[in-house]
Amino acid sequence: MLVRMDEILKKAKEGKYGVAAPNVYNDISVKACYEAADKLNSPIILDCAGLPFLEETADIVRFYERKYPHVVAALNLDHGDPFEEIVHAIKYGFTSVMIDRSTLEFDENVREVKEVVKIAHGADVSVEAELGHVGQGFEYEQTRDAGLTKKEDALRYIDLTGVDCLAVAVGTSHGTYKGTPHLEFELLDDLSKSIDIPLVLHGGSGIPREQVKKAIDLGVSKVNVNTECQLVFAEATRKYIEEGKDQQGKGYDPRKLLAPGFEAIKATVKEKMELFGSVNKAWW
Ligand code: 13P
Repeated sequence: MLVRMDEILKKAKEGKYGVAAPNVYNDISVKACYEAADKLNSPIILDCAGLPFLEETADIVRFYERKYPHVVAALNLDHGDPFEEIVHAIKYGFTSVMIDRSTLEFDENVREVKEVVKIAHGADVSVEAELGHVGQGFEYEQTRDAGLTKKEDALRYIDLTGVDCLAVAVGTSHGTYKGTPHLEFELLDDLSKSIDIPLVLHGGSGIPREQVKKAIDLGVSKVNVNTECQLVFAEATRKYIEEGKDQQGKGYDPRKLLAPGFEAIKATVKEKMELFGSVNKAWW
C-alpha cells in the first residue's frame, strides 16, 4: 500500500530506525525496490525526480503496489524544483513531495515552501524541505562547511513553513565524494534533540557504514541513496557485457542484459534496509 511519507517516518522516528529512500526511474528500479521490501518486510520510500519521469514512474509504482499490496511504500518527489513539477507529482498520485529551495535566502525559502505545504496538505500529501544546503561530492571540501544547517534557523523554519520532515546538512554531499565524507555528529545530535519532526539525510551514498549507522542512532529517519544504486547497476551490466555473456545464449536480449543490474540494485537496497534497521518494520 502507498502511504504518506510522514506516516512511515513518524514510525521510524519512534522506533529509532532509518528507512531507505532509493531513487527510482523506471520498471527496473521500482521492481528492485518492491522485491527488496517484500523479502525483508521493510517499509520503503521511492524517491523520484524530474518532470519527464514522474507520470510513467507513478504508473509503474501502481502496478507493483497491486502486485505487492502488503509492501508499505511512499512515493516522494525528490528535489522538486519548478512549481509545476510539484503540482504534477501531486496530480500523478505521489504521496509526498520534496520542495528544495535550499539555495535561496531564508525568507524566500520559507515563503515558497509555505505555499507548497498549503497545497500539498490540501491534497493529503506530506512535504519534505531542506534547510542548510547539501552540495555535490565533487566539490565536497569547498562547500561542505558553508552549507551546514543551523539549529535556531531550523526551529524557526519548521514553525514558519509547517513541513512534515526536514533534510538537514550535516556533512554529506550528493554523488561521489572528492575527499573523505565525515559527518558532524555533535550538530546532528543537537538538531535531533531539538526538532520534533523526522530528519532526512541526503547524499547517503559512499558514507562509511559506521557513520550512517551512527547518524540513524542519533535520529535520522530517512536516508536517500541514489548514486550507489546507479553505480552497482552500471558495474553489474558492464561486467556482464565485458565477460562476453551478452554474446552467449542470446545474452543480448534486453531482459537478460538488464538482469544483473536489476539484481545488483535489489541487493544494495536490501543491504541498506539491514544496515538502517528497517527489516520487519512494515505494517499492514
Ligand atoms: P546520493 O546520490 O549521493 O546517494 O544522494 C541521493 C540523494 O540525496 C537524492 O536526493
